[in-house]
Amino acid sequence: MADLSVRFAGLELKNPLLSASGTFGHGLEMSGFVPPAALGAWVSKTVTLEPRHGNPAPRICETEAGFLNSIGLENRGLADYEATVLASLENTDAVIFTNIGGRTPEEFAEMAARLDGYDQISAFEVNLSCPNVQGGKLPFATDPATAEATIAGVRAVTKKPIFAKLSPNVAFIGEIAKAVEAGGADGITAVNTLLGMSVDWRTRKPGLALVMGGYSGLGIKPVALRCAWNCATSVKIPIIGCGGIFTADDVLEFLVAGCSAVQIGTASFSNPALLGELPALLESRLAEAGLNSIQELIGTLRRES
Ligand SMILES: Cc1cc2nc3c(=O)[nH]c(=O)nc-3n(C[C@H](O)[C@H](O)[C@H](O)COP(=O)(O)O)c2cc1C
Repeated sequence: MADLSVRFAGLELKNPLLSASGTFGHGLEMSGFVPPAALGAWVSKTVTLEPRHGNPAPRICETEAGFLNSIGLENRGLADYEATVLASLENTDAVIFTNIGGRTPEEFAEMAARLDGYDQISAFEVNLSCPNVQGGKLPFATDPATAEATIAGVRAVTKKPIFAKLSPNVAFIGEIAKAVEAGGADGITAVNTLLGMSVDWRTRKPGLALVMGGYSGLGIKPVALRCAWNCATSVKIPIIGCGGIFTADDVLEFLVAGCSAVQIGTASFSNPALLGELPALLESRLAEAGLNSIQELIGTLRRES
């Protein structure tokens, strides 16, 4: 049986499969579909300091090759996350990444400082796609200096591994990757959703109440793969690929492009058990290729013709 374990950023994960933030519950709500210990790690939905009600409905709509969402980071806030979700995770054998969102760099650091003492949390994922209220509501991930300062603020208050989650909605994602590396990130998650919209021409209505939203799923895979590769070739820290991953072959493509692990998001909506099925599928792909360890594939893209 091929070895699926991966080691990066001081973590040892039993396989390179993580859930993508916001698509797989907040704690272990999906454990009826996927046993907690089956995943490399579970990533929480974005937690914010204060509770958020999210955006008006409709805030999810299907398109030809994926879906659009404008959930608006709905969540019950940090105090509730501590009291309910973290309390319920005290004795779990799952590896937990907590994804944090803030409105200012200080808010990100405040959240990380408050969560730093929880042993249940193995790593932080910093959602830099949040709008920066001080920066004219442009997402943190669109400006290298702001992205670097935000990560540096989190770095100053925790020794846990920090993964900066980047947005694909920028001209040069490699520049943002370099900035978060300089700020002290231990790794990068690439990527969050692409900006998109849909229209019903008969009703003249947009698919989402706020018109624009985040596009995810099948259609974004080539863009996400390109972004992950841009990051992997720009920095030395490890990359977690994310975007449009549905199959074992998709997972292996992201690893060859330079990712140390991947996250599965939209695919879990059509098959909530997928994350638990993928390890066996990966093992059989590796056996077919005569490989003993999945780690051997990471960053092996051949560019010669
Ligand atoms: C319904 C929905 C909610 C999401 N919520 C969050 C979130 O709270 N925080 C975050 O960082 N990303 C969030 N995302 C983005 C996903 O984590 C992921 O980056 C993106 O969907 C691309 O991966 P996919 O094509 O596999 O879904 C959300 C995506 C969807 C579809």
